[in-house]
Amino acid sequence: MELEQRPEIEALMAERRTFPPDPAFAAQANAQAGLYEEAERDFEGFWARLARERLAWDQDFHTTLEWNLPFAKWFVGGKLNIAYNCIDRHVENGLGDKVAYHWIGEPGDTRTITYRDLQREVSKAANALKELGIGTGDRVAIYMPMIPELPIAMLACARLGATHTVVFGGFSSEALAGRITDAGAKLVITADGGWRRGKPAELKPAVDHALRETPTVDNVLVVRRLGEHANIEMVPKRDHWWHEIVDRQSEDCPPVPVDSEHPLYLLYTSGTTAKPKGILHTTAGYLLGAGYTHEMVFDLKPDDVYWCAADIGWVTGHSYIVYGPLANAATGIMYEGTPDSPTWDRWWQIIEDYKVNILYCAPTAIRAFMKQGEQYPAAHDLTSLRVLGSVGEPINPEAWLWYHEHIGNSRTPIVDTWWQTETGMILITPLPGVTTTKPGSATFAFPGIAADVVDANGEAVPLGGGGYLVLKRPWPAMLRGIWGDPDRYRATYWGRFPGMYFAGDGAKRDADGYLWLLGRVDDVMNVSGHRLSTIEVESALVDNRAVAEAAVVGKNDPITGQSIFAFVILRGGQVGSEDLARVLRDHVARVIGPIAKPKYLMFVPDLPKTRSGKIMRRLLRDVAEGRPLGDVTTLADAGVVDVIRSNTGKTEE
Ligand code: WTA
Repeated sequence: MELEQRPEIEALMAERRTFPPDPAFAAQANAQAGLYEEAERDFEGFWARLARERLAWDQDFHTTLEWNLPFAKWFVGGKLNIAYNCIDRHVENGLGDKVAYHWIGEPGDTRTITYRDLQREVSKAANALKELGIGTGDRVAIYMPMIPELPIAMLACARLGATHTVVFGGFSSEALAGRITDAGAKLVITADGGWRRGKPAELKPAVDHALRETPTVDNVLVVRRLGEHANIEMVPKRDHWWHEIVDRQSEDCPPVPVDSEHPLYLLYTSGTTAKPKGILHTTAGYLLGAGYTHEMVFDLKPDDVYWCAADIGWVTGHSYIVYGPLANAATGIMYEGTPDSPTWDRWWQIIEDYKVNILYCAPTAIRAFMKQGEQYPAAHDLTSLRVLGSVGEPINPEAWLWYHEHIGNSRTPIVDTWWQTETGMILITPLPGVTTTKPGSATFAFPGIAADVVDANGEAVPLGGGGYLVLKRPWPAMLRGIWGDPDRYRATYWGRFPGMYFAGDGAKRDADGYLWLLGRVDDVMNVSGHRLSTIEVESALVDNRAVAEAAVVGKNDPITGQSIFAFVILRGGQVGSEDLARVLRDHVARVIGPIAKPKYLMFVPDLPKTRSGKIMRRLLRDVAEGRPLGDVTTLADAGVVDVIRSNTGKTEE
């Protein structure tokens, strides 16, 4: 584990400007400074109070937290239903006509969905799931584009107590198959396809392909999105059109109360091995954490229009497009398209048209907008914006300041939010109206969260020092485990530093106690805010017959944060070429998905290894970055790196 992922950190911290809260904003802010103290005094009491205030229970809980390190149970004895909490109670409270989602589809479709619409659609979908044999505890895989049926499908599962696992639509059929099998899903919900940059993109064929390898699926439910623009096959008995089976269902479907700890969803994420982990989130604690942070971190007000521009296929979409906002009866934007289509001002047009108050997106997007120039946002009225959020990767001060000036009109607070698939909710963030921000720093742990920075021995480092980010007490939305693998859960997160959750990130705390995230210290890359494992990409490469061995590193990238750099040793008789590089990239896309394609691919005769045979990725990163080489004394053969460095076989996509 190496602590040098963000070498520009010193320069980064040299940005000395600070941004205190605007007094007018502070006066109306949801969050108050006293929250930190209240939560610190008695963190269990703090969460228990919020759980009773914010959630609608069918049965109260008797114990706030049962902590058998590393296994947590929150709100034990309680019963509730998430769909009821996210929909029905709002309708009962007179908010039936409030818009839940303004859906903006491609090419140009729109749909407005109120809480009452959601109640009707989710109930019908849940009844259809029942007809297809789905009940409490079953797993359902969801592989869909960003269309309203996606959150409807998730909530239909939650209404029945079925556990969903959403697979990002950009993953390949092989990746989908692996997740379906690991989860033991009985049903797949998908669509014929979706629209991307004005063109139809089919999805259903990937499901058909995946199901050849998976034994557990009985039925497939297919939303018709592309219609005549798609040419898909429906397998008799197995495949059902959504509009045929859902539309004829009753609008009445009583929500099933489940235990606080009932599995709500699995979300697969890359770790440090080739096999993605099924991160398990449960019901009450997750909903509380997602909803409460959503209201506090974004200063959500009842009339706000809120837009999280992530894809629901990632955790950001789960917590901050679906569960958190709906728990708060928020009005959200859901956008099917991309930022650059049809033109680079699409987002700014949407903000102007819908008078968006809160925008939450990734630094990658901000840097891409910076590159295009400020004339795009400048052409639109963005004065509705009140809060801006950033997530998924470290934000560099330049991007922060650009976001502040050109999107936030040098006025709106920016919340740089650190969290993970595993944490379920935002854990490190400024509170708008409370926290003085520093561009590039995620500032402080959320109230009730015990974050620390420790050295290799698990000792807290003094202010000004760097080390590993850890969490020292449980929190309600924390993962409850890795699906089917408690040992891996214990070893991955709780094994490195006894008694502490190890996030896999490096962090530094400055003299004022501000946290600066330094990026991953393990073999996980972050490309455009998407998490990918170096080993996963390596095993996809060696899966190709031409490849004998591969090593993959994340290379710093001015737009995407990191980009994938693959070093490939070919089997005897194979010769590296642009064509073969293309074949290998396509192969990786087929095994994992297009997001995992190496941007750089270099054919090499050998790889730098330690005497015990471990690939020295640190040296490969130096090569990839064109940096002077670090310590080579542990190399088995020091000459290897020179050979690689003088290599001209680098191809770039
Ligand atoms: C990184 C996304 C710096 C981090 C919500 C973490 C960040 C990984 C930030 C989790 C941030 C996320 N600043 N780094 N504000 N937010 N990360 O599971 O390395 O897709 O471990 O969850 O993204 O990625 P994941």
